[in-house]
This record gives sequence, structure tokens and C-alpha cells, in this order.
Amino acid sequence: MLLAAVLVVAEAAFSAETTEQTPVLRIQADQIVAPVSPIFSGMMTEEINHSYDGGLYAELIQNPSLNDNPTIPVHWTAMQSGGAAASIALDNSQAMNEQLTTCLRVDVAKASATALGGVANDGYWGIPVRPNTLYRATFYAKTTPRFNGSLTVALESSDASKTFARSTVEHLKAEWRKYSVTLTTPRGMAATADARFVLAVNAPGTLWFNLVSLFPPTWKHRANGNRPDVMQKLADMKPTFLRFPGGNYLEGSTIATRFPWKQTLGDLSQRPGHPGCWGYRSSDGLGLLEFLEWAEDLNAQPVLAVYAGYSLPPKNELVKPGPALAPYVADALDEIEYVIGDTKTTWGARRAADGHPVPFNLHYVEIGNEDWFDETGSYDARFSQFYDAIKAKYPRLQCISTVGNEQPEKKRVHSRTPDVLDEHYYRSAANFEQDAPAHFDKYDRNRPKIFVGEWAAYEDIVPWDSKSRSLPPTPTLKAALGDAAWLTAMERNSDLIIMQCYAPMLVNVNPGARQWRPNLIGYDGLNCYGSPSYYVIQMFNANQGQVVVKAELDPALPAGQPALNFSITKNTNDGALFAKLVNANSRPQPLEIDLAGVRRVNSRGSCIVLKSVRLEDGNSIAEPTKVAPITEKIAGLGRRFRQTLPPFSVSVLRIQTK
Ligand code: AHR
Repeated sequence: MLLAAVLVVAEAAFSAETTEQTPVLRIQADQIVAPVSPIFSGMMTEEINHSYDGGLYAELIQNPSLNDNPTIPVHWTAMQSGGAAASIALDNSQAMNEQLTTCLRVDVAKASATALGGVANDGYWGIPVRPNTLYRATFYAKTTPRFNGSLTVALESSDASKTFARSTVEHLKAEWRKYSVTLTTPRGMAATADARFVLAVNAPGTLWFNLVSLFPPTWKHRANGNRPDVMQKLADMKPTFLRFPGGNYLEGSTIATRFPWKQTLGDLSQRPGHPGCWGYRSSDGLGLLEFLEWAEDLNAQPVLAVYAGYSLPPKNELVKPGPALAPYVADALDEIEYVIGDTKTTWGARRAADGHPVPFNLHYVEIGNEDWFDETGSYDARFSQFYDAIKAKYPRLQCISTVGNEQPEKKRVHSRTPDVLDEHYYRSAANFEQDAPAHFDKYDRNRPKIFVGEWAAYEDIVPWDSKSRSLPPTPTLKAALGDAAWLTAMERNSDLIIMQCYAPMLVNVNPGARQWRPNLIGYDGLNCYGSPSYYVIQMFNANQGQVVVKAELDPALPAGQPALNFSITKNTNDGALFAKLVNANSRPQPLEIDLAGVRRVNSRGSCIVLKSVRLEDGNSIAEPTKVAPITEKIAGLGRRFRQTLPPFSVSVLRIQTK
């Protein structure tokens, strides 16, 4: 958060200047209306917009196991320098094992010490290369018998004019073997994403490659790990949970292409990948264990979604509840056992063998995703079948239904009372702003708790409309104001809304990489940035408190003008009050703040403000913090003081009380 050392004097204590129009925010600091859920704010993730491959997952080679296209070795090109001759093709006759059956064949017809022939991979919109950095390359290779050339492994510019790092492998074998090299770039080079990865030989022959991998340094130096810069952005949000693996990605476009968790475990050579539901294949390099470790690395608990027998529209493939669904229920129990089972259990032992003997901190299991799309009415029976089996084996686990109160009554039938209901909200900023003051306040408190498992404001064009592709990948200030309004609604009601997470979270901003907008955090190969909505979430999470206190606006703002949305929470340990105030209006909004139920108010406090001149302003790779919060110190606070909220702004006031 940016800190400006500005001392702003709150606009004088309550005085005769107060006009009739100035609304008063009456805060009753000793009247607790709700606890703030300790796991209120988390993350939602799935493979969309190149969230993992070409995103968080640090692997730099695209199509590492040659499965992305059945006929062409996409992202691989023949490479021939100084008059060498080489050609490449997919080869299904040299299976590396039962999982990786297609490999890359490289025929080098002509090569010498000064004319290398081989193959290059262009990565995800280029291979990002930074100065003074160690890269680890691994690959499986075999050659024709008696091949005695040496193999150069290199990082070079896409036009081959510069080599950034190089290593050599001798004595390649005629059988599949794994090779590892390190590549270290020089200090003086400029970082570039316009690079490629090369495997090339100095003698004629035929070579085969598979599972070619290149890793830069990763978060916490994990092997097969994540990008440090994106992980840092996530850590800075202070998330309490990670909902995975979807979203639609859990369900798949068909039953056969649902998230195949068992195939995502263990050594990468055992992971064939699978067709994703967002138009590209997933390598599954970021598999079940990596999801769990990602959550663990951020001190967040996993919220595991299990496949519940229903795949996506338009096919709407369905497994009938009853005996046909039993294997899917058993599969979910295996998956849960992998996550929390004792190491004496089959899948707990497998987790230990994969490197994590300690069970993960799982409390919530979500049964399916958006099952309100199932028009056959089978969800009640499917949910019951999963619920009964999960509760029988793991009574302490909480089961989340994916059909919440927003759905028509007939779809909400539940023969087993879910512990939690998942509701999703993708709405315009204006709609969030108008609906926030009352939406959740009206909910029946006797019904199950709510998990808002996906939500995001869009400006004007719905996220799934292809017209949105012409807009920036991440939301503008206009959407962030709607997001902030919605967050005040959820936070004020966090006795009921026990968890919430924005979606989608990640987007590769390169052309053609995304399927959806808006998205919270954008990146290319070298850089990443948070959108204004990201900063809103960060501001809320850093100033959460443990309880919501009573607050009312008097009088409410006139209808027709964007609502002034607010949520007031308190830290019960030290008496600090956090006033989150959203002014979606183009005019400054004066506000009297009236504090009751406190003995003393410290005259000095702080105010974090997110604002910009134009609603269309947003952040980007070029301007990553154009719209970012500024922290100001403020003075003149008391039992009654006046604060003017800037136009188009989100403010978090920290008021120290006793
Ligand atoms: O967040 C994008 C998609 O929106 C999710 O995959 C799905 O659950 C929802 O419809």
C-alpha cells in the first residue's frame, strides 16, 4: 500500500456549519451486530485465462509433453543455425511411458560445430529471461544408436541474435533418459520476454524429446513451484482460503474431461494433462498436491470442490444419482483421503509418498459447481449421496451445496441441509451499488450460512460477452467501486456470509490468453499488477476487525444517486474502528461521523483512499499502480467529526477508540 506522509485535519468537529444535506453516519461502537467470520476473505481459482500454464505455475515451456495438439508440435519450431538442416514432427512410435506416448522427433540432416540444428520452444508469449538468474532445464531424450554429437541447451533471443545462457550435454543415450542442466544468465543483460529455449546438436542424427521443462526461481524455492511475483500479490491479500479447482474447470465440458485429480499426482512424467474447458489443454503440472501446497504456503485453508456428476452446458452431461454415481462418490472420498487421510490409509500414504506426510487443514468440501444449471432436478439426490458418504466417513467436514438462495425455489430443494450454500454474483457495478445496502440484510438467519464463491462487478458488458475482449483484462475504477460496495454488504453480513472470494483471480494479459473479463490480477511473462479491485480487497482485508458494529446513515441519500455504501468493524483487542466508505458519486461526499458507545477517541487516525480522476482509469503492465491506495494520517477526530469522501473513492478510516 502506498503511504503518503500527509497529515490531513478532519474537517473540524461537528459545528454549526453542518448543513441539512450532510448525512450523518451514526456508529454505535458498543453494539455488535455480527462477528466477522475468521475465514471471511479468500481466493477462488481455476485454469482460465492461463491462470496456471502461462501464469502462476512457473513452468516456462509451452506444450512440454507434446499433447497440446494431436497433429502438430505446437510451440515448437525447427531451429537451424549457420547452414544446418533440421525438421521436427510429432512421433507416436516412441512412447516414453504409458502416460506420455507422443514425443517430439527432431531429424538433423546437416549440422556441425558451427552450424547447430535442433528445436526451439517459444514459451507462453515468449520465454521471460531475467539477468543474473539461474534456470533449471530438464528433459527426456533419446537418440539413434551411435549418435555422438553434443547437445546445446540454450536461452536465446527469439531472432537468435543473442544467447543469454548456454549449457552442453554429452553422451546422449539411445534409450529414454532424463537430463538436467542449469542455465545462468549474465548480470548485465536487460530482462526480456522475447526469448526462446533451444535444444540443438552439432552432428547429424535423429533425436526424440519429451517432458521438456524450464523453471526460473520459484516461491519458497519449491521444485515444480509457482511464480514469486504473483504469489507475493496473493500473499499481500492475506487470504484465508483457496477454493479450487473450479469453477467450470472442475466440471469439464464433458464427464470425461472433468478435473482428473488422480492423474495430476506424482512425478510429472506420470501426468498426461487433460483438455481444459476454457479452450486450451492443461498440463496438470499444477495438480492436486500443488493446489494444496499453494494454499499452505499462504496460510490459507483449502476449500476442495469435488466433481459431483454434472458437466457443463451445452452438453449438460449428467451421471444419474444412485448406483451410477457411486464410483464418483468413492472417487471424492479417495480425494478427501488424499488431502486429510492418515498415512496408513491408501491415499494418505500416497500423499506421504508424494512428499507431504502431514494432512492438510481441510474443513470445507464443495459438492460440484453451479449445479443450478442442471435443469433435470437431480442435484438434490446427487448432493444427498455425496453428503451422506462424506459425513459418514468425515463427520467434521462441512459440505457446501452449489445451489444457493439466489436460485428459484424448485432448484433449492435439499433433502440434506447443507452446511453452507455457494452463491455467485457477476453483476454491473451500478447493480452492486444499488443492491448492497439491503441484499443480504434481508436473508433469513435460520437458513444455512453462505459462501459467495464467485463475485465480481463489471462496468457495462457482461464477462461472457465476446465484446468484452476489446476492454482491458482487469477492472477499472468504475467496477472497483461496485466491488467495494458489494464487499461492504458481505462484510456487514458476515455472520451469514462466512466466506467470499472474487473470481476470476488471474489473467495473462497477452493477446488471446484470456476467455473472461474482468479479472483481479494481470501479468505477462515478466511483470504482474493488481487491478483497482485487487487493492479494494487488500484494503478491506488489512483492516478487518473481529466484529461488525451498528451503523446507520441519517438521512439515507436520495434515491437515484449512487448509494453511499459502508461497513464498520471493530478490533475488539484494541478498540480500533475501521470505517469502509464507498462514494460512487462524481461529487465529493461530506459526511458527519457520529461515534457513540466509546469512552475516548484518539484525535489522530489514518485514512486509506483509493480514487482516481476518471471512472475509466485502471492499472496495467505499463501503469501498474495508476489507481492504488494512498494512506494519509488524519487529525481532528472525535466523538463527532466531519470527513469528506472524494469523488469516485473507496476510503478505509482507522479510528482508535477506547
Ligand atoms: O469465473 C468464471 C466462471 O464463472 C466459473 O468457472 C463458473 O463457475 C462461473 O460461471
